[in-house]
Order: sequence, then structure tokens, then C-alpha cells
Amino acid sequence: MLLLVILGVTSVRGELPELAERGCGGSFDCFAQDESGLRETESGYCCIFGPLELWKTIYCVEGGSMQKRKLGKSNLEVSALGLGCMGMSFGLGPPADKQEMIALIRAAVERGVTFFDTAEVYGPFTNEELVGEALAPFSGRVVIATKFGFAPDPSGGPGWPALNSRPEHIKEVAEGSLKRLRVDAIDLFYQHRVDPNVPIEEVAGAVKNLIQQGKVKHFGLSEPGAQTIRRAHRVQPVTAVQSEYSLWWRRPEKEVLPALEELGIGFVPYSPLGKGFLTGKINESTKFDSTDFRNIVPRFTPEARRTNQAIVDLVTDIAKRKKATPAQIALAWLLAQKPWIVPIPGTTKLHRLEENLGALSVELTADDLREIDSASSKIKVEGARYPERLEQLTGR
Ligand SMILES: NC(=O)c1ccc[n+]([C@@H]2O[C@H](COP(=O)([O-])OP(=O)(O)OC[C@H]3O[C@@H](n4cnc5c(N)ncnc54)[C@H](OP(=O)(O)O)[C@@H]3O)[C@@H](O)[C@H]2O)c1
Repeated sequence: MLLLVILGVTSVRGELPELAERGCGGSFDCFAQDESGLRETESGYCCIFGPLELWKTIYCVEGGSMQKRKLGKSNLEVSALGLGCMGMSFGLGPPADKQEMIALIRAAVERGVTFFDTAEVYGPFTNEELVGEALAPFSGRVVIATKFGFAPDPSGGPGWPALNSRPEHIKEVAEGSLKRLRVDAIDLFYQHRVDPNVPIEEVAGAVKNLIQQGKVKHFGLSEPGAQTIRRAHRVQPVTAVQSEYSLWWRRPEKEVLPALEELGIGFVPYSPLGKGFLTGKINESTKFDSTDFRNIVPRFTPEARRTNQAIVDLVTDIAKRKKATPAQIALAWLLAQKPWIVPIPGTTKLHRLEENLGALSVELTADDLREIDSASSKIKVEGARYPERLEQLTGR
């Protein structure tokens, strides 16, 4: 049988028999996979029990040195960078190979990532299924966030453009998400978009019930307005708000971030790399797959991309000086805004996952941050971040 050893760090790389004897070492915990699945080996040491031929894969999971952050005043502690899993199955082109994505999610765990983001609507369902399968062996060691609130088109059209946050529906979605994620409780359950037909107090009350029943641990909101956050928080404390935030979309700074600071709520910026644009790997001649959502985003038209290169140039200049990459600067800038901010960059590639995690070692000084603020304030970003119909669902 082919013995495949997957290791997070070169210092523990070794031949399987040797690794099996000495374990992953240091701050690593060992998980081993045999024919019947993946399980944590006893006392953190690798498979010193049983014949070696049984083991297919050993995962050495970073147990100690990853930077952690708390989401606001809640006790929810997660790795300082999470992993956005949406693009693995939805939104940014055709779904990637499921087994490869399972390996990628587990590689993130090995590197110390403990915060994973998905939603019922991604697929729908397939992204939750992927995340659930990938993280099943690490149950209790990772935090999985998912979202409810989108619904199929009532007139039978394609996609899930409708909203439904009625309490009875939230309950049903939670049951489905629990099964797909293979967990006893959903760690963080966000309302994906505010539903104008359901008062937020009823939504918060429905999630409160689920928390009381032990089916959900924390409540979150995605793209709410500040007033909605306050109203929801009065009924059921909100652990985290997830909204778009990055160097080219800074609206949360106006009202949302001050409200979160006041209330002690954590913030999870989505699309922290500007849907890939801030990394410098997209230019006006980049062609997106026909299923890629960016085809309908005004700020991604070829003309807008040409104009918006100015913001990439800024990030690239800073990156050169800091001996970092543009993606790392974009993430380091977010991390430097507040200690209760946890960005969730998405990728389908291991080398980019590692590059993005490298942002945790990039320190931006107060001078760097002032320079970025001053230079970026002079750049006018061209094009809306969403088509009008989708923008209207935000900030309510
Ligand atoms: N709450 C909401 O409404 C909402 C909305 C959107 C997203 N989200 C969540 O936020 C997560 C992240 O957002 P996002 O995927 O929209 O945007 P993002 O993280 O800003 O960017 C993802 C894109 O950047 C590329 N990328 C990642 N790292 C890179 C690097 N180092 N160099 C070059 N390219 C890189 C990825 O391509 P490759 O795969 O090819 O690397 C992908 O196309 C999602 O997965 C989802 O969980 C939530």
C-alpha cells in the first residue's frame, strides 16, 4: 500500500516508520487514517500501535503556535485567519475536485487553521457537505460557521435569489446543516442576509431557541446595518458579524465597526482579498469561467479592472518593501485594524493557503498603515461591488 505522509512543517518530516515511532513531535497532535477512516491517535503520538501497513495518511496538526483571536467579548476563539470554503464549490467557477478540496481543508487544519466558513446556499448544500466530510475527524477542535436565510426562487427560476428567515424555516435549515456538517451543534450560525419580511427580533429569538436546545453555539449576522445589529443583540447576543471588508470596500468603517466595538462583537471580513483582485493575479485580460460570479460584478468589468489596477499597484509597492506578497499585505492590513477581526480568505490551492497564512508574520507599523490610508484615500475605485439587486440586500 502506498504510504503517504502529509506534514505541516518540514522539521517533523520523516519516513513513516520513523515518524510513527517518534510521533509528530513538539506542539503537533497526530491524526492517522486507516481503511476505516481518520482518528486521533492516542496521547498525541503517531500510530505506534498496530501494523504500519494499515496506515494510509498521517496528519500532524499544529497544536500550539498558530495565532488566535477572540471574536469580540464572546469566548469564541479561532485562528487569526480562517478559511473561506465557498469558492471550492460555488460562485467562483466550476466546483473543484472534492477529494482535492478535502485534502486542502485538512491541510489548513494541519497548519493551525481552526475557523472554516460555509453556507447552506453554497452549492446549495454541496459546500456544507464538503466541509462536513473534511472536518469530521477534527470535530471539537475546529469552529465551523454556516449561514441560513437564502431560499429557492418561488417561481421555479434558477438559483436561490429569495430570502427566508422565518423562524420555522431557520429551524429546518439548522437540522439540515447539522446533518451535512456532521456535527452535534453548529458553532456559529449567521443570518446570511437580513429578511425585510421578518423582524430581526424573531430571527434572533429563533436562533436563541436553537442555542437553548444545544443545536447552535453562537449567533451571527452577515451584511446587516448597525441598527439591526443592535436590535438583534438585545434578544440574543451576537458573537460575530460577517460583511465584506477590504482595502477596496471600506463601508463597514462608517457605522458597523464602531457599533461592533461598542457592543463587543467580533468581525469577520469576507472577500478580504477583493475576490482575488487585490492579490495582483487578476488584470483586465483575465477571463473568468462562465459560471464565475465576477462576470456580473461591475467592479470586475475589463474597464474597471484597468482603472482599479491603481489599488493593486499600491498594495504591490508596500509588499515589495515589506518583502511580502500583495495578498499578504491585503490580509495584514485587515488584521491590523482591530484585534477582534478575523478575515476568511478563500482559495482552492495549497500554495496560496500557505501564502495567505504568511500574512500573520507581516507586521504593518503605524507609519505603514498611515501611508496605506493616505494613498488609498486618493484612489477612486471604479464600479460597484455588487449588481444593484444584490447590493440592495445589504446594510439593512
Ligand atoms: N457572507 C457573505 O455574503 C459572503 C460573500 C462572499 C464570500 N463569503 C465568504 O468569504 C470567503 C472568502 O471570500 P471570497 O472567496 O469571495 O473572496 P477572497 O477570499 O477575497 O478571494 C478569493 C479569490 O482569490 C483567489 N486567491 C486566494 N488567495 C490568493 C493568493 N494568495 N494569490 C492569488 N489569488 C488568491 C482565489 O482563487 P484560487 O482559488 O484560484 O486561489 C479566489 O478566486 C468565501 O469563501 C465565503 O466563505 C461570504
